[in-house]
Amino acid sequence: MAQATVLVGAQWGDEGKGKVIDILTKDVQYVVRYQGGNNAGHTVVIGDDKYVLHLIPSGILHSGKICVIGHGVVIDPKALIDEILLLEEKGIDCRGRLKISDKAHVIFPYHNKIDEFRESKRKQGKIGTTKRGIGPCYADKVSRVGIRMGELFDERYFKDRLESNVEEKNALLKDLDSFEGFPVEDIFKKYCEYARYLKSFTCDTTMLLNEALKKGDTILFEGAQGTFLDVDYGTYPYVTSSNSTAGGACTGAGIGPSKIDKVIGVVKAYTTRVGEGPFPTEFGPELMEKIREKGGEFGATTGRARRCGWFDSVLVKNSVDINGIDEVAITKLDVLDEMETIKICTAYKYNGELYYNIPGNPGFLDECETIYEEHSGWEEDTSNATAYRDLPENARKYLDRIKELIGTDIILVSVGKSRKQTLPYK
Ligand code: IMP
Repeated sequence: MAQATVLVGAQWGDEGKGKVIDILTKDVQYVVRYQGGNNAGHTVVIGDDKYVLHLIPSGILHSGKICVIGHGVVIDPKALIDEILLLEEKGIDCRGRLKISDKAHVIFPYHNKIDEFRESKRKQGKIGTTKRGIGPCYADKVSRVGIRMGELFDERYFKDRLESNVEEKNALLKDLDSFEGFPVEDIFKKYCEYARYLKSFTCDTTMLLNEALKKGDTILFEGAQGTFLDVDYGTYPYVTSSNSTAGGACTGAGIGPSKIDKVIGVVKAYTTRVGEGPFPTEFGPELMEKIREKGGEFGATTGRARRCGWFDSVLVKNSVDINGIDEVAITKLDVLDEMETIKICTAYKYNGELYYNIPGNPGFLDECETIYEEHSGWEEDTSNATAYRDLPENARKYLDRIKELIGTDIILVSVGKSRKQTLPYK
């Protein structure tokens, strides 16, 4: 295992990162979240137990691993405390193993309210956010009015900053939505309570991680969401508000780029996305229903049905470049087991020209034609395969073709939810 590995979703999130992270965690000492918030949801199945984690890295399920929530993450303290308590109920103690950055920005009720308000007022171009206040919290961070974890512990300073924030947000919401306003005192009291609970978990995680690297410890940085939800690189404006690409690990955890040894991309054997936005390879209703059911394609955070489509090699190839992906893990191959034929998108066509990239002009991905190649399916159950050679020939051909199109090595293939349904590639 490389000393510092970044793992990212190479599509629109929900690629099955949780399972791959869970497998890689055994070889590292630290697991780090560097962006996003409780908009994310990792599902990990261990034996008969299913864990859905939104903020805490799934490494917490492995004893002895240190889990870090870096300063690039936005934290809803109530959601975080609920997660800690839920884990404790299941016998997993977070004390001493969960470290929260004192520089991570905090989500307040006015962020959730603004998120909901914006979505409800948009006539066209709704983003389909998770309504967790993520965008408005990041907006405050960039506008330099956000409040960070470390500030919650200095009650006088915190109250001052909170008052001016609440005043501004109340005025805005009153004007635009006749909202009666948030009582600042209530928020202040609640957040002081949260702060007391979270204080012992909070520290300078940047220093912690850099010291760990100096000692030779191994670290896995786990990206939430996926490449095409990245605020800079994704299908803007239908994106989340953070850098979910590999570069986000440097800014969101405080690690220099020269310290990253490897980037692993997680790629679903087909494509899904939740929420609005362009999706060139999206299935028609019949196939959508079939794959959604077979793949259990419902959001871990909001329960929303995911949109499903064919594998898009243009997207993933671009993702390999932008993240500097060295290797990919392919997930959910078994979901395609019953397909007679399977398509792969190999290029986009727009105004008569072929494209292998995603230009920034709005409407490109909505309007482009998708160029497909068609493969015969394998029509066999792969969920019991234990080695690459056990896979049907057409499944192997499908994987080999993906590898060729995206130009990177495959390290493992997942054919089911459990840890043992994971095959090393070749
Ligand atoms: P937000 O992150 O709640 O602002 O939502 C912005 C967009 O990102 C919406 O389309 C969401 O559905 C999508 N999104 C946010 N988090 C996830 C995730 O963990 N998986 C997949 N999509 C996500």
